[in-house]
Amino acid sequence: MIPAARLVDLTKDYVLKSETVRALRGVTFEIPTGDYVAIMGPSGSGKSTLLNVLGCLDKPTQGEIWLGDKNINQMNDNQLSLTRATSIGFVFQSYNLIQQLTVVENIEVPLYYQGRITSKDRQRCRELADLVGLGDRLRHRPSQLSGGQQQRVAIARSLVNDPFFVLADEPTGNLDTSTTDEILSIFESLNQEGKTIIIVTHENEVSARTKRIIRLRDGLVQSDLKNESRVARNQTEQTTS
Ligand SMILES: Nc1ncnc2c1ncn2[C@@H]1O[C@H](COP(=O)(O)OP(=O)(O)OP(=O)(O)O)[C@@H](O)[C@H]1O
Ligand SMILES: [Mg+2]
Repeated sequence: MIPAARLVDLTKDYVLKSETVRALRGVTFEIPTGDYVAIMGPSGSGKSTLLNVLGCLDKPTQGEIWLGDKNINQMNDNQLSLTRATSIGFVFQSYNLIQQLTVVENIEVPLYYQGRITSKDRQRCRELADLVGLGDRLRHRPSQLSGGQQQRVAIARSLVNDPFFVLADEPTGNLDTSTTDEILSIFESLNQEGKTIIIVTHENEVSARTKRIIRLRDGLVQSDLKNESRVARNQTEQTTS
């Protein structure tokens, strides 16, 4: 089966006036459909750069990126925007909600890029709000919500186009432990339904619940391991249930 994503010897240089920062220095890996991956590594190791390039928010300097059977290096800016809008859901540490819009309007935002919003689309947005436990907050604005609730709006928004993947950069970085747990449960159930999820995180509690942990160091993959403790835990759960 074709993997959801394939990166081949990917590099990304940021060219500044006085120097070039080599943020990614040859990253190669595959992400099968349905995987749930944590990207970890020290500050400055290239995690956000990797996620941005994978999510078509930024272009690589060299190397190939395949999303399914599409090579995104060969896409022009319009094709990249379309791929980003229709195939990829983003969740950010700071939620990135529009303060003037309500919960349900924020969830609708990715649909604006496709033009008209139908009543079926609106219904889907309400269902997504329900899915993340905000069915009773549809008319609230971000300032009237807790951090965890705002992140749940962002997750619902990321799902509105039924993306190929969900990419999340430190999605629980601003949240306390119990709210982090709630957000991880949402990601876990999305993954169980088949969504491919990639989370950048510093937190061991977060990576402990993913299927695979890729560690970056200085723009290179330092290790890429199955999360054995999760596999073991699931096996125990299966044998005891
Ligand atoms: N827009 C940019 N222009 C120039 N350099 C950049 C830019 N974005 C990132 N960098 C540099 O690229 C390297 C990788 O940055 P990146 O943001 O990917 O790290 P990170 O692993 O996400 O770190 P953190 O854990 O602090 O978020 C760093 O040295 C950073 O300073
Ligand atoms: Mg980062």
